[in-house]
Amino acid sequence: MSKFVIKGGKSLCGEVNISGAKNSAVAIIPATILANSFCILENIPNISDVHTMFQILKQMGATVEQLDATTYKIDATKITVTDVFFPQVGNMRASYYLLGALLGQKHTANVLMPGGCEFGERPINLHLKGFKALGAEYSVLGGLNASISVNAKRLVGSYIYMDVVSVGATMNIMLAAVKAEGTTVIENAAREPHVVDLANFLNMMGANIKGAGTSTVKITGVKELHGVTYSIIPDQIEAGTYMTAVAATHGKAVIKNIIPKHLEPISSKLVDMGIKVSVNYDEDSITVNAIEKFYACDVITAPHPGFPTDMQPQFVVLLAMAEGTGIIREQVWESRFQYVSELQKTGMDITIQSVKKKDDFLLIQGGKKLNGAEMTATDLRAGAAMIIAALCIDEESTISNIKFIERGYDDVIKKFRSLGADIQRIED
Ligand code: EPU
Repeated sequence: MSKFVIKGGKSLCGEVNISGAKNSAVAIIPATILANSFCILENIPNISDVHTMFQILKQMGATVEQLDATTYKIDATKITVTDVFFPQVGNMRASYYLLGALLGQKHTANVLMPGGCEFGERPINLHLKGFKALGAEYSVLGGLNASISVNAKRLVGSYIYMDVVSVGATMNIMLAAVKAEGTTVIENAAREPHVVDLANFLNMMGANIKGAGTSTVKITGVKELHGVTYSIIPDQIEAGTYMTAVAATHGKAVIKNIIPKHLEPISSKLVDMGIKVSVNYDEDSITVNAIEKFYACDVITAPHPGFPTDMQPQFVVLLAMAEGTGIIREQVWESRFQYVSELQKTGMDITIQSVKKKDDFLLIQGGKKLNGAEMTATDLRAGAAMIIAALCIDEESTISNIKFIERGYDDVIKKFRSLGADIQRIED
């Protein structure tokens, strides 16, 4: 088992480059199943979730060729397998996009139950509701090899209202509806940058999707989608994580290769706290300067353009380094505070105020003296928060279970070192 060993206490300074977005890549890679020729995808992050998705596609009959460090040629035209029971499927959440893509292209899919980071219940009822509205029948099998199968004789456009905003359901329904007969409308759709990225990719292939990035997405089905060359957007959450790390360590650094608009929910909170954030539009970069004192604030997570739930654990650490008492409310996931006990090992003053599901919140008292600790990553973003915590502490800390972190952060050691961090990856 590998772990990170971090000796913190230094302000992060310098420059760091942001990679392509994980949550775009893991949807756009399976979306190549819908094309009638090969696709070339650029700016693909080097993370384990992407490699897992490539392995799954290869086992299904696709060819995947790496053209350079971040560019891949994917030919999914030879895929014949629609029963996707490879063990890797159960290792990642985004394998649910195989359902939408296979349903859209082959009208049938039988996929092992998706796995991924576990923080409480992660239902997919809205995905299934969408598939059903398009004319598909589905069944969910429980047990050891739990799986979901969807089948349709015809896919016909439909009006689909979602009572909860869901990124995955919005994107999966887009995949299934893009070649359906007639028009599909998704109401109360998710507006995350990766929803827009997938729509742009599909439109470039010949799809007719309007309104992505708003809460009403209209998809007019087309007969064929052709292969394209497409570059994935920069990762909003990776950028936000480095911005937060720089701020928490009272550093000053330039975060490069970003889309400033995507970072507004994060930047505006940093500014509220008294941290200086400036955007250089010519260079697609953002500078964070937290050399001076900064102050606690209240944070409520919400679907985009609200404050991202995937930045919630990292902000807990930032609030622990701020002056005063901060509050964090998690309103997207029912249970995303399991990592708190790990951060508490550093002496952080965090208390969970229990009210009722989805109303629990954290009280974080800033400015406490912290000590090095042995922490265990409980999921991807919690792991990132533990790295930031360790970087703030003038003693050695270790973080184990780093497989979670490597699912979604490209070249984490090199990037933190480019900011002056003392971080090593060692085999235990
Ligand atoms: N929900 C339902 N029914 C559904 C689907 C979702 O009730 O059918 C609920 C969930 O329980 C949750 C809320 O809707 O309360 C939002 O879930 P969503 O479907 O938006 O999440 P997701 O698509 O499964 C993606 C990201 C997550 C990120 C969420 C929210 C991917 C692969 N994952 O998950 O990213 O937290 O959106 O923004 O895109 C991460 O990157 O660390 C990560 C967990």
